Amino acid sequence: MCGIFGCVLKEGNAAPLIHASLKRLEYRGYDSVGIATASDGKIFLKKDQGKIDEVHKIINLDDLPGSIGIGHTRWATHGAPLKVNSHPHSDCTGEIMVVHNGIIENFMDLKNELENLDHNFVSKTDTEVIPHLIEQTLKENPKLGFVEAVQESLKRLEGSYALAIISTKEPDKIVCARNESPLVLGINGKGVFCASDIPAFLEVTNKAVMINNGELVILSSEGYEIRKIQDFSLINREPITIDWTPEMAVKQGYPHFMIKEIHEQPETLRNTLRIQEHYLDLLSTFLDRANEVFLVACGTSYHACLAASYMFSKLAFLPTYPVYASEFIEQHGKSVNIDSTILAVSQSGETADTIAAVTVAQQRAATILSLTNVIGSTLTRVSRVYIGTQAGPEIGVAATKTFTSQLSVLAQLALKLAKKRGKVSQDEMDSLEENLEKLPDIVDTIINTQEEKIKQIAKKYKNSKVFFFLGRGISTATAFEGRLKLMEIAYIPSIAFPAGESKHGPISLIEEGFPVVFVCPKDDCHKTLIGNIMEMKARGAHIIAIVEEGDQEMKSLADDYVEVPKGIPGVLSPIPFAVPLQLLAYYIALGKGFNPDMPRNLAKSVTVK
Ligand code: F6R
Repeated sequence: MCGIFGCVLKEGNAAPLIHASLKRLEYRGYDSVGIATASDGKIFLKKDQGKIDEVHKIINLDDLPGSIGIGHTRWATHGAPLKVNSHPHSDCTGEIMVVHNGIIENFMDLKNELENLDHNFVSKTDTEVIPHLIEQTLKENPKLGFVEAVQESLKRLEGSYALAIISTKEPDKIVCARNESPLVLGINGKGVFCASDIPAFLEVTNKAVMINNGELVILSSEGYEIRKIQDFSLINREPITIDWTPEMAVKQGYPHFMIKEIHEQPETLRNTLRIQEHYLDLLSTFLDRANEVFLVACGTSYHACLAASYMFSKLAFLPTYPVYASEFIEQHGKSVNIDSTILAVSQSGETADTIAAVTVAQQRAATILSLTNVIGSTLTRVSRVYIGTQAGPEIGVAATKTFTSQLSVLAQLALKLAKKRGKVSQDEMDSLEENLEKLPDIVDTIINTQEEKIKQIAKKYKNSKVFFFLGRGISTATAFEGRLKLMEIAYIPSIAFPAGESKHGPISLIEEGFPVVFVCPKDDCHKTLIGNIMEMKARGAHIIAIVEEGDQEMKSLADDYVEVPKGIPGVLSPIPFAVPLQLLAYYIALGKGFNPDMPRNLAKSVTVK
């Protein structure tokens, strides 16, 4: 998730406005910043790695001539957060400048093709193929206008993008385009603006035009012109009035970042499916060769590791050991060695316990692999290979979208390894891959159809003094995560156990009305789980079940239930089944009058041991 902005002003300098607007998009990423403007038929460019304020102090982002320009604030996905990878990116001549939010999936093929045609690439980004592709299209079709050359080039891109492009060829225009990444226009008497998000221009106008997938827009001093990328047909769309305050706009109208991020999960899960095969392949090769594999993480990321240990075992027949990072050194510090492999999972990539565990393992010559949401973080620097989880910045302290993204990457990794090891039949593999692809829509359905119901359940149970969360098999991890979400934002003491273990002690707590949340996918554990529900019911527990749609048996046992679309394979179930638990925690916290974005005593990134 990056932020893009562009403006065509009727008069005055564009750069200070672009700078101010990028500041309002900084919540979308802050690894680097860059601005390019057009003036007197020339392009002017300033960019560097670092947060906007830091970069501005050194290179004065306001000091660029021209009333037309584009800007970018970056959340690194392809390529480290370095100056060379920061946007805008240009063609060989420096005459075409592009800012981009999204992921170009076929960039490697395009890059190879363009390099064979003597194009010179300087960055590691996917974005850089775009200006070169436009340059090449113009070279091959000298009669094409700049806008048509952009249109033709867009047809070759696969993946997601929101783009803003300027060029010396037609320096009075910005061409923008959208496929899957957000893009919106703003208009006032002084000019036209394009941005990733409304907050970028809300200070100067509340008149906005939403851009849809497959559309290209030409911005000029005359206003805006929307056309279809496919056939260049004209689209008429009038501006709408936005009545959000700037603060509401940053949260896209949601009251809290946490609920915004829960709702972003269909999109973030789609992004995780775009991870380059090459990295999955590399990581799975290391795992395949390992003598012993430790999955090391804290908190929510540990729950992703716990779920992953079931995925690796069931799909790839690889035993792995999930370990709390804060325990790793005590538990395995002396035995970890050159034959050990550590797969560390961390949203921030900065968690002190995780870094400490990895450092000890590295000193003992173990192989360090990692998954993180922050490219350029300490964890990426100490890892032999890492994969970015592509969830975009997570601002809510409670991890939500980064958890499901971690799970999706881990599932893809387990599948890759299974393929390598020939442990799963082709039919099963195809079905799992198909189901993984369906998950973004499934999560969308859960949010759309169950949120109201979850609000009611939250209202009913918000004054409970304690909660139980139970699941069997891989759902143990989901139950653990549901408990952590509720405890950390609603401050209700909660207990989670593998359901089978609950009868070995915890059940003594149960008395009339005690709320027990059961995670009940229709997997191999379904029958046994029913037995555990009966045990709880017999002692007066109130059962809140997260069930598969149409699971009459579970529904008849539950006092309250939330439904998840049916047919999800057990190994993938933590992704959709976690979502109702995130919503439950959120609405219980709200009902109790707490701010879920700022839970007491917690920090987003825990950098102390
Ligand atoms: C819970 C939560 C924490 C983090 C933990 C690890 O919602 O956010 O439990 O999961 O502090 O953080 P990372 O993943 O950044 O290492």
